[in-house]
Amino acid sequence: MLGIPADQSIPIDEDHSVQLCTGTLDHVLASARDEGGAILNALSFPLPLSAINQTAYSSDVEAWRVTEGMPYCGDEDAPYPTADMRWGLAATAGARSWIHIDCDGLSTVVDPLCGGRLWLLYSPHDEYEDNIFGDIDQFFHEFDVTNPPHYWRVEAVYLQAGTRLCVVVVYTPRVHFLNGINSIMKPNTPHAVFTTDHSIAVGGHFFSFANMQDTVFGIVHAFTIDTFVTNTEHPKTRLLLFRMLQYLYRFYVEGADHISEFPQP
Ligand SMILES: [Fe+2]
Repeated sequence: MLGIPADQSIPIDEDHSVQLCTGTLDHVLASARDEGGAILNALSFPLPLSAINQTAYSSDVEAWRVTEGMPYCGDEDAPYPTADMRWGLAATAGARSWIHIDCDGLSTVVDPLCGGRLWLLYSPHDEYEDNIFGDIDQFFHEFDVTNPPHYWRVEAVYLQAGTRLCVVVVYTPRVHFLNGINSIMKPNTPHAVFTTDHSIAVGGHFFSFANMQDTVFGIVHAFTIDTFVTNTEHPKTRLLLFRMLQYLYRFYVEGADHISEFPQP
């Protein structure tokens, strides 16, 4: 199985791309078993056979279910982009992802299976507006991905097997933690991740209507500075946004009755 891990044992000067290399999961396993093995950070292994279930926060799944065949919603038999929305991660101890936002304005859930990861989640200090991360200049002016600005605050959560990071939802703009379990934060939230013990995790993305403003902020940041602020891309997820728009038009503008036309399965 091919992956594109970053060998973070390789010294960098200015260009972080020197650490990108092609390998297999066997390389990750061999490094984990070798005390002096390479520090590998293998991101985004697609899991196209994963289940797609409805949840309270995954508006994209409900919109997908009820917009089949509608205008601007793709081919009638278009498959849900499961390989973009469900993925696995593997990293050896010492791997790190410096400050970034997740790609395409997507929200994220992470379920560690083994090992440990320390997530640092940033939000504005109390005296600043909640929406300052929507500032178009947020990541310009020589932004340092290893050193957050003074007006950010950081909260840390340690993730290990049995805990879940729910990177998103909703009801409050601030970051909330419950001892690392079901931790919640806004989308478009800058975060950094440090692998403390060899780690495997599975995760997924979703869009939520309640977070749509931050989704747009994230898309604009990714468009303007691309890989400086994100670490992958999932262009197929645009169809999900089209279908969510169609959902809003059908049921909130045209006034279609959701319950009678599309009963729950
Ligand atoms: Fe991330």
